[in-house]
Amino acid sequence: MKRIVVVAAMLALSAGAVVAQQDRVNQTQSQMKETGKNAGALGAIIKGEKPYDQATVDAALAKFEDTAKKLPTLFPESTKGLKPDGDYSASPKIWEDKAGFEQHIASFTKAVGDAKGKIKDVDTLKAELGIIGKQCGGCHETYRVKKG
Ligand code: HEC
Repeated sequence: MKRIVVVAAMLALSAGAVVAQQDRVNQTQSQMKETGKNAGALGAIIKGEKPYDQATVDAALAKFEDTAKKLPTLFPESTKGLKPDGDYSASPKIWEDKAGFEQHIASFTKAVGDAKGKIKDVDTLKAELGIIGKQCGGCHETYRVKKG
């Protein structure tokens, strides 16, 4: 009887741990969605759907910087194999090729850092977002999986 209680308690604990890890996966997804929203706002300026707005540009760069800083901690070993609801999830390659993943984070961080102070109008925005966007896409190509 005692053993059953202990096992039940352990199961409850590990279930709790899985819930906590699922929360982390969902938080990572929110961080990426916010990053995507900011990139979308810049895209709308480039397409001429919205007028150039320095505050939007600065907010987006701040978000990218925040994401770059958080990326090294967004995919802990404990969340391997867990998926958020939605169209995308982390590829197992993140954990299989840690060095490669970290390299992508480093080059993304550099692109964002380099863009700071350079964006002043639609033309400079186009140029810098082109460079940053390549980093987003480069990482997604290898380390993001589209459910399908
Ligand atoms: C170093 C790797 C890396 C970089 C750089 C990166 N991402 Fe991601 N991104 C991921 C991974 C991994 C996922 C899948 C995990 C997830 O969706 O929670 C993802 C998911 C996303 C999603 C889908 C979120 C969802 O589930 O709906 C969007 C949107 C996104 N990223 C936008 C961006 C934008 C915009 C940039 C650049 C400004 C960027 N990302 C840079 C790794 C990266």
